[in-house]
Amino acid sequence: MMDQVSGGQARFSMPLLGWYELNRRDLPWRRSRNPYHIWVSEVMLQQTRVDTVIPYYHRFIDRFPTIEALSEAEEDELLKLWEGLGYYSRARNLQTAVREVREQYGSRVPDDPASFGSLKGVGPYTAGAVLSIAYNKPEPAVDGNVLRVLSRFFLIEDDIMKSGTRKRMEQIARELIPDGRAGDFNQALMELGAIVCTPKSPNCTGCPVAEHCEGRQAGKQAVLPVKTKAKPPRPESRAALFIAGTGEREGQFLIRQRPAEGLLARMWELPHLELSAEAVKASTGAEEDGAQLELERVGRLFAAEQGLAVAELSPSLRAEHVFSHIRWDMQVYTGRLRSVELPGPEYRWISSDELDTYPFPNIFVRILGELQ
Ligand code: ADE
Repeated sequence: MMDQVSGGQARFSMPLLGWYELNRRDLPWRRSRNPYHIWVSEVMLQQTRVDTVIPYYHRFIDRFPTIEALSEAEEDELLKLWEGLGYYSRARNLQTAVREVREQYGSRVPDDPASFGSLKGVGPYTAGAVLSIAYNKPEPAVDGNVLRVLSRFFLIEDDIMKSGTRKRMEQIARELIPDGRAGDFNQALMELGAIVCTPKSPNCTGCPVAEHCEGRQAGKQAVLPVKTKAKPPRPESRAALFIAGTGEREGQFLIRQRPAEGLLARMWELPHLELSAEAVKASTGAEEDGAQLELERVGRLFAAEQGLAVAELSPSLRAEHVFSHIRWDMQVYTGRLRSVELPGPEYRWISSDELDTYPFPNIFVRILGELQ
């Protein structure tokens, strides 16, 4: 690696800034100077691609244009606007943090790293991105794109999943920031990673800093960064119920709210449960009556584990959802409820025109879209 980053500004930062000025994408948050709007965009952009974020960003800012508006939002409405973006704790943390900004800082997003970085959900990346873009503070903003660009340019072969490597990269990125240009520089770095220095086949011929790129000189641009593989998500077989109402409940179906803590907290869903590995194995046997046994088993499980007495179960569609640690393989069953009593206050009958007031995880948006 070149004597850490000495000479880095001349070889890297300046050509990169020049390229950015000519090639920057016209993105909605780049038109804003409002620190709160920039913050919203950065939270959405974590784990989510620019193209996906754009319509969400517009809807969110239209509905919650100010810190006050977001502070006062009902959680269901907030999560509904986030529906499909995933990682819903981002939205809840943002609201918690914004409330704190309202109370502690008179609704002005703090511009110092210690105050802003101590808000709920604000990690080093978000802090650096917002403070540099909104206030031009010389803070690094190192996300996956930036790790890739820097590991290639400086031929850093340490594992980027290690916190020590990230710290070192943050230090390098900090030293590379040209005086007075932090916001543009950080965005230029992200932009290069997003559109030129891409993961699989980087476009080195279109790169403004290819000439001094040590990774390219070593022929390693396509294999960097070094990253230990995350464990594959653990598969979970699940059974879900689409229970249509009858009589007074005609035209309605049963949903429930998830617990206040944990995965997808307080979002709404069809009732579902995990099928143990033994249950799955037993039901995939080739016996003639395997299918009937499977329905009986699912019915018994819902009665025993969730107090839902169901009848007329029939297999419907299957759907999959991959979270970072779990993969849900969901078999949906249609059926009827035998008793009018619901097992708890978290259950609710709704009709399809009420779907737009309840936030559902993506897998249920897809399932309900097919079943309606
Ligand atoms: N990814 C994360 N932050 C971004 C930004 N401000 N512009 C484009 N892509 C981004």
